[in-house]
Amino acid sequence: MIIAIDGPAGTGKSTVAKGVAKKLGFTYFDTGAMYRSAAWWLNNQGIDLEDADLVVREIPKFAYEIKTEADGGKKYFAGGVDVSHAIRTPEISTLASKIATYPDVRKALVKIQRAYAQSVDAVCEGRDMGTVVFPQAEVKIYLMASPETRAERRYRELLMKFPDASDTFSYEQVLNDVRQRDHQDMTRSVSPLKQAPDAVLIDTSDLTATQVIEKIAAIAQSKKKRTAMRCSYGFVLALARLYLKLFFRLKIYGVRHFRPGSAIIAANHASYLDPPVVSVSCPEEVHFLAKESLFKAPLFGWLIRYLNSHPVSRETADASTFKLIIGLLKSGHKVILFPEGGRTKDGSLQPIERGLPFLMMKAKCRIQPVYVKGTWDAWPPGKNLPKLFGKITCVFGSPIEWEDFEYFDKRDAEQRIMDRMGESLRALKQWLEDGANGDPP
Ligand code: DC
Repeated sequence: MIIAIDGPAGTGKSTVAKGVAKKLGFTYFDTGAMYRSAAWWLNNQGIDLEDADLVVREIPKFAYEIKTEADGGKKYFAGGVDVSHAIRTPEISTLASKIATYPDVRKALVKIQRAYAQSVDAVCEGRDMGTVVFPQAEVKIYLMASPETRAERRYRELLMKFPDASDTFSYEQVLNDVRQRDHQDMTRSVSPLKQAPDAVLIDTSDLTATQVIEKIAAIAQSKKKRTAMRCSYGFVLALARLYLKLFFRLKIYGVRHFRPGSAIIAANHASYLDPPVVSVSCPEEVHFLAKESLFKAPLFGWLIRYLNSHPVSRETADASTFKLIIGLLKSGHKVILFPEGGRTKDGSLQPIERGLPFLMMKAKCRIQPVYVKGTWDAWPPGKNLPKLFGKITCVFGSPIEWEDFEYFDKRDAEQRIMDRMGESLRALKQWLEDGANGDPP
């Protein structure tokens, strides 16, 4: 995993990146140190860093090495010389920022950076980690803080690092440098400093380094968990599909009615088997709600846990369940719901409840009707386990669009949506009974 941390100077990037790397056991990679080392090395050879052509001609000879010490600290070597301390002066800050504007310098250094972070878990800090060097990074963070806060931090840092030279710099000077460097880093034509669209923005002005480290570590851990869950989702879905196909001869019709984007997958409800059956039948990833008690059922509980299920308890107020569903829909997911409210008592279709139109209009999403046949026989009410064999069919009907009801008054729209949903289920049932010819309605 790569955690890319970008942001202007003085946002606490280095402290935070080091802390995150330590906390997660990742390799820490400071790409600013590389620009600084290159600037130091060029300058040490008497090269005028304003002379872009000369710098570009010399940069391929730049030999760079990072050594990790026993305590985890890093030592940087430029042309074999330990420059770890020397690269932290204000003069080198300015020179590093200068050479970082040359496209060919960047090209050469980016190549080394990519090779360095290849096949390791790394926290990489710089200016273009999330935008250019590692656009595929799993976690992208953009740190920011006001120029005054950053200058204050840099000034204190310089006082600590160079106490003997404290009369050579002032807070005002550091603030001026920060502003100048921001301008140079943000306005250069190649890889300017900017937030990647998928980066998480953290303002560190009023946060301690520990708080920022905790925040980023939590983001990385939840990303890792989600990635693992996605893999598990695919695996468990394939297993469930195989089981339903082999033991229940699962047949699916009408998947061409599926559209991209959020939708309520609205099904009739006859059995506990309905959520996994509809999940398996959908051509893309879906979510559903399940009673908390079902998660305790042996095997079945395990199965639904991995199929993007969300537990709801009897005690949970309707309001929080609705909030959860609307949240999922608004973030673009498809959610399976059973608008009849509960399982059928006798196997027949039941009236549609008001919750369906409410959710549709709140989330402004379509309804994808689906009729499920055979689950009533496969796992009848009152039985602890499903039968061993059976026949299950799932039919998707044409979607119901929320825009069709937008201009009706609220009550009228609700009734019309419920009527359309009821008609759709009856039509799909009839289509199956008539021999499943052509496209489902
Ligand atoms: O993070 P730092 O202050 O040590 O970086 C020194 C300079 O190097 C900074 O002014 C901008 C430049 N830099 C860059 O352009 N791209 C990076 N990935 C890292 C640093």
